[in-house]
Amino acid sequence: MCGIVGYVGKRDSQNILIEGLKKLEYRGYDSAGLAVFTSDGLQITKSMGRLVNLENVLADAPLAGFIGIGHTRWATHGKPSDVNSHPHTDNSKKFSVVHNGIIENYMSLKEELAASGHVFVSETDTEVISHLIASLYEGDIVKAVQKAITRMTGAFALGVLTEYEPDKLVAVRFFSPLIIGVGEGENFIGSDIPAILDYTRNVYILNDGEMAVLTKDGVELMTLEGNFISRELFHVDWDIVTAEKAGFDHFMLKEIYEQPKAYRDTMGSRIDPSGKRIVMNELKMTDEYIHRIQQIHIVACGTAYHAGMVGKSIIEKLARIPVETDVASEYRYRSPIITPNTLVVVVSQSGETADTLAALREAKRCGARVVAITNVVGSSVAREADDVIVTWAGPEIAVASTKAYTSQLIAFYLFGLYLAQTLGTQDEAYIADVVTELKLLPDKVEQILQHAEIIKEWAEQISTHDNLFFIGRGIDYAVVLEGSLKLKEISYIHSEAYPSGELKHGTLALIEEGIPVIALATQPELFEKTVSNIKEVKARGAYVFGIHTLGETELVKAVDQVLEIPQTIPLLSPALSVVPLQLLAYYASLARGNDVDKPRNLAKSVTVE
Ligand code: G6P
Repeated sequence: MCGIVGYVGKRDSQNILIEGLKKLEYRGYDSAGLAVFTSDGLQITKSMGRLVNLENVLADAPLAGFIGIGHTRWATHGKPSDVNSHPHTDNSKKFSVVHNGIIENYMSLKEELAASGHVFVSETDTEVISHLIASLYEGDIVKAVQKAITRMTGAFALGVLTEYEPDKLVAVRFFSPLIIGVGEGENFIGSDIPAILDYTRNVYILNDGEMAVLTKDGVELMTLEGNFISRELFHVDWDIVTAEKAGFDHFMLKEIYEQPKAYRDTMGSRIDPSGKRIVMNELKMTDEYIHRIQQIHIVACGTAYHAGMVGKSIIEKLARIPVETDVASEYRYRSPIITPNTLVVVVSQSGETADTLAALREAKRCGARVVAITNVVGSSVAREADDVIVTWAGPEIAVASTKAYTSQLIAFYLFGLYLAQTLGTQDEAYIADVVTELKLLPDKVEQILQHAEIIKEWAEQISTHDNLFFIGRGIDYAVVLEGSLKLKEISYIHSEAYPSGELKHGTLALIEEGIPVIALATQPELFEKTVSNIKEVKARGAYVFGIHTLGETELVKAVDQVLEIPQTIPLLSPALSVVPLQLLAYYASLARGNDVDKPRNLAKSVTVE
């Protein structure tokens, strides 16, 4: 996601800005740029791709000056490119802006400014801000920014410079994070503390609706209306690595806890303000095409494949279209039957997995339309697909995927509902009910996270075993597959996930005294059958940990230990029930002393077939 750094002081700003941006690289980005006030006025240098590209350009043409702003961009409005990168400027090139967040009314502002002669060069919402500030400037940059903000809706953090007042850096926080670093004869802004931690540990944390005016000699804090604020400095006493993990011991745990936000962000504006319908403006496919779809293939690898297995249940149940799921590395070698009426959905957190990309190309070669569900805007998969549904999980750093997986589930719910409402396979009231429940999921995940201690104890118990089983029926089976994979990836404990009813056809031979079995039972129509299957393993000595939906009391009696999760409609339960399984893997890995975030033999993004 985007990063902001700003500097005003007595040192060369270019290096400080670049070093600050490097500290924010872990967030993921696709382009970067700097604006510095030099002896030739305000100069901007930007470059698509990694920071090293920008550094190479700056090596040939440095930006020398004592005040500047820098940005790493994670594309939202407009593809990754030099021109869409920040900082942006206006037609006079006297103003420059870096921005995190989204200006929701940028189109109407853009039209208004264009009508009065402003010429835009990028597709971004940010460029509109620089033009707006320029149009409102009457000799006071602080007032111009304040006036501009009254015209903007959305969420944003800003860093603003103008050549007319070359000693000032203006910073704004409005629902996107921004902090101010306070040094000796120099001051800083950053979208996150690591950006400035090499230079100062004294920071002001801006609240939403506050701004700051920085010069080399001081920082003034004020409300967006211009009322001055006095605030205590906050002293940062953690190191950079900890700060990047926001106080969590590992990225994986941080990412597990970020899931409520990822759910909300992925749903975002895709739920109509009425709360009853799905809006997917990003899809280019027509309603007429949707009516022609005869079958759907979902193709992916690893965790994304498991999300696809849940996706199959969602789409078949909601849209009544037959769905097949395929592991991407197998897909193109099995001569899949692809017709012009086959829709292929590829799922990839990174958008760069070679197997998934190869499957996508094979599907397109055979004439299918391809939809990508991906977390990375501008990734190869996103660029090559016909339609893209972006999951707004934010950068995922731990190799074991958590929030990317659950955001993929949310994307499938949205897409399945969208197909159903287009095809009329579900009535409007049912769709509205599902949407209502969908919106409650983030709060319910938060409730589950409050019980992490129970799962930690379970994990400590299972961590001494070398083998265990996960069982579930129906959609629960798809979830236990993911739970088992998570455990294998980071704890290195061998586990197998089985449909509960299938155990007795062979695998039951492996159940012996004391072996742990994790049983998932969230589907009311399969509940009694699952309880019977639990009794089968119990009778053979298994020690059963049961996870079930609140209110189903029979399971409590059948298992050795139980965790209740909040109720939702059965189709939505995977978005809740996977969370304890993620925590189980995390704490088991921890108990075994493994490197949780970087498990042996595995890579986050696998770009070889
Ligand atoms: C690698 C990762 C897995 C991930 C899989 C697919 O194997 O270790 O965690 O699920 O790739 O990655 P993708 O980026 O395509 O979702």
